[in-house]
Amino acid sequence: MKLIFLGPPGAGKGTLAAKAVEILKVPHISTGAIFRAAIAAQSPLGIQVKAIIDAGKLVDDATTIELVKERLGKDDTRQGYILDGFPRTIPQAEALAGFSSVDKVVNFEIPDSMVIQRLSGRRVCRKCGTNYHILFNKPSHDGICDVCGGEVYTRDDDREEAVQKRLEVYRAQTAPLIEYYRDKGLLVDVDARPSVDEVVENFRKALNLG
Ligand code: AP5
Ligand code: ZN
Repeated sequence: MKLIFLGPPGAGKGTLAAKAVEILKVPHISTGAIFRAAIAAQSPLGIQVKAIIDAGKLVDDATTIELVKERLGKDDTRQGYILDGFPRTIPQAEALAGFSSVDKVVNFEIPDSMVIQRLSGRRVCRKCGTNYHILFNKPSHDGICDVCGGEVYTRDDDREEAVQKRLEVYRAQTAPLIEYYRDKGLLVDVDARPSVDEVVENFRKALNLG
C-alpha cells in the first residue's frame, strides 16, 4: 500500500508510522528524517538545509522532489511505502503524481494547542530517531534511548519560535493539500488527538486493516 501521512508538525505522523510499518511491512520514508540524517553527517545536503530547517521553513521544492524521486526508485518500495512529510506543497504533490501512484492520504486531525504541547515535550534519539515525550512517552532512563542506548535530545526546530513558524508554513503551504487530495477521493481522516494506541486503532479502522 502506498500511503501519504499528511498533518501539522507534531501531529504524531512519525510515531504512528513507526507502528504502521509493522502492520503494513512497507518502509517509512520521512523527508524530515532524511534531512536530519544529512545534517548529522554534515553532508553537502545537510549543510545546504540546516539553517532552513532550524528556522522552521521549508526546503525548496526542487531539492525535496529530487530526493523523494530517488528514494522511491529503490527496490524496497515495490510493495508500497509510508511517505511522511511529503508532499508538503502543491508543486510537490503534482511532481509526485508524475513518478508514483498513491493509494490513500491519511490526514491527521488535531488542534494547534495539542500540537504545541506535543512538540514542546518531544525528545528524539540522536542515533535511531525514536520519538519520546517528557509527559506521554518517557524513556526508561532519563536522556537514554530504550531502543539503541543513544542520546535523547530536543530537536533544534522544536524551539518555540520555530514551532510557530512551522505552524504558519503548514497552514499556508501544506493545508491546501487536504482539499487537493479530498477532491481526488484519496483522503482518509484520522482523529490524532487520543493516545498512541487509540490513534493506531483509528488508523486501522480508517483503512479497513481489521
Ligand atoms: P518533519 O520531520 O517532517 O517535521 P514535521 O512535519 O514538523 O513533523 P514532526 O516530525 O515535527 O511531527 P510528527 O507529526 O512526526 O510528530 P511525532 O510523531 O514526532 O520535517 C522537519 C523539517 O524538514 C520541516 O520543517 C522542513 O524544514 C523540512 N522538510 C521536511 N519535509 C519537507 C518537504 N516535503 N518539503 C520541504 N521541507 C521539508 O510526535 C510529536 C510528539 O508527540 C512526540 O514527542 C511524540 O512522542 C508525541 N506523540 C505522538 N503521538 C502522540 C499521541 N497520540 N499522544 C501523546 N503524545 C503523542
Ligand atoms: Zn535510539
